[in-house]
Amino acid sequence: MKRNIAIILAGGIGSRLGLSTPKQFFKVAGKMVVEHTIDSFESNPNIDEIAIVSNPFYVFDFETAIIKNSWKKVKKILKGGAERYHSSLSAIKAYQDEDVNLIFHDAVRPLVSQRIINDVIDALGKYQAIDVAMPATDTIIQVKGEFISQIPDRSNLMRGQTPQAFHIDTIAKAYEIALKDENFKVTDDCGVVVKYLPDVPVYVVLGEESNMKLTYKEDTYLLDKYFQLRKSELPSASLQDEKFENKVAVIFGGSYGIGKEIGELLEERGAKVYSFSRKLNHVDVGNKEQVGKVLESVNQAEGHIDFIINTAGLLSKELLVATDYETICNTINTNYLGTINVALESYPYLKETRGKLIFFTSSSYTRGRAFYSIYSSTKAAIVNFVQAIAQEWEPVGVNVNCINPERTKTPMRVKNFGNEPDESLLSAREVAIATLQTLNSDFTGQVIDVRKKKV
Ligand code: CTP
Repeated sequence: MKRNIAIILAGGIGSRLGLSTPKQFFKVAGKMVVEHTIDSFESNPNIDEIAIVSNPFYVFDFETAIIKNSWKKVKKILKGGAERYHSSLSAIKAYQDEDVNLIFHDAVRPLVSQRIINDVIDALGKYQAIDVAMPATDTIIQVKGEFISQIPDRSNLMRGQTPQAFHIDTIAKAYEIALKDENFKVTDDCGVVVKYLPDVPVYVVLGEESNMKLTYKEDTYLLDKYFQLRKSELPSASLQDEKFENKVAVIFGGSYGIGKEIGELLEERGAKVYSFSRKLNHVDVGNKEQVGKVLESVNQAEGHIDFIINTAGLLSKELLVATDYETICNTINTNYLGTINVALESYPYLKETRGKLIFFTSSSYTRGRAFYSIYSSTKAAIVNFVQAIAQEWEPVGVNVNCINPERTKTPMRVKNFGNEPDESLLSAREVAIATLQTLNSDFTGQVIDVRKKKV
């Protein structure tokens, strides 16, 4: 069996995106784009080795990333060239004495799936050259100057992605011939095989929309959403009890509903839980001093705090002009200022334990709706705030996430909506389970959607 070498092409400068650093270093979902990409290959059991092709200027950044991520498969950092094909050639040279498969992948396609990687590797067992592509959805027109010259049949057209993979001798041979051609035009690696080794069939593996390439500014928003969708699907694996044993958790708003359920689940798994709320012990998250005091007392008693969860929130479902000003201020104070207070006061303790902080948003955060102006806007603020501090605290190992439950059967909901059929609502326990799964994960800066399972 030939060894499968993933070549991560990261030698570009990302001029079209126009950031101050190349786009492969853009941060999304708590990591650099290229780190997500390398993670995908590192975790695939069929990949034997990884080589990064870098601009010489950024080699140190990759060395740092290798140490930070403890990647075991990354064995080479190669120097790229001015054009993408120079970077491919650099990898071909580096492996020219070995009989291997080279799997070239754009560093800026961080959402490549395990299915795509596996299909590409399977196909290499049968064919010498593999591409990944998606059917063209738009009509593609061929132009001459400013006019259409032809409209090719869309059913035969596909949009190329990566990986592109080859037996090394095939791609090396194709380039050898290409580079002797004085009319050689820059193309992608499969294009070189198609043009210069016309007898070699290039097999096409079906790509995925999410395997998108970060190219323009707008792509950063899309990428962020794709990560949210992917990461918000929590692994359904059972909650390992040992992850919670002897951990100390503090829950704000733990007197009823979701907060109470989280406390019970954590205690069942051996964690020591401290709950605070206005009702239980007159602790108001809107009061920074109170939050600070109780955290200090827990830390004094236990010596460490590992998890801090804030479920405290107020909802008053009213038209803005019908809401009295005190209610508006209280809602902002509890929902938004409370979040900031908990974050500020938690930081010194969670920094010590590389602990985890969890807040709660609502599905209304994405779009304001009548009757919810204050509630929803505070929930939108929480998401934005979580994303920001997750980035700020990532270097010190504190994970910050936000749970976004669908409609949940809690006393607060009943107060505002009366009796609703149980089957239309999530139970507080389901949301609590998702919260523990999040505590169990390495997510940071994520909005974790919790949805009712369709039966
Ligand atoms: N690439 C490379 N070496 C180059 C040029 C590009 O390894 N000389 C890599 C990029 O780092 C990227 C992938 O090839 O991962 C796809 O290329 P592209 O999107 O064109 O990236 P850039 O060249 O960086 O972007 P731009 O064209 O906007 O400058």
